Amino acid sequence: MSEPKRGTKPIVIEETPGKKAYCQCGLSDNMPHCDGAHSREGTGLSPVVVEVAEAGKKAVCQCDHSADLPWCDGSHKGLNV
Ligand code: FES
Repeated sequence: MSEPKRGTKPIVIEETPGKKAYCQCGLSDNMPHCDGAHSREGTGLSPVVVEVAEAGKKAVCQCDHSADLPWCDGSHKGLNV
């Protein structure tokens, strides 16, 4: 079993519309999207699945402290890491 990896800054991407699964374990080789590593590594975590309505720039939370997951709400700025 692998421990989740957390980042200190969001990953900013140009996202396309559609159903998306954002990694919550930090072990995906396709960050910020889930690649199934959470299951292979036995983390007990699951991705956050959302429907993205419009294409555009998205900041995807990596610290896991956002109140608006999977999106960054700036919470990482208050972390002492
Ligand atoms: S690979 Fe991290 S949540 Fe799926």
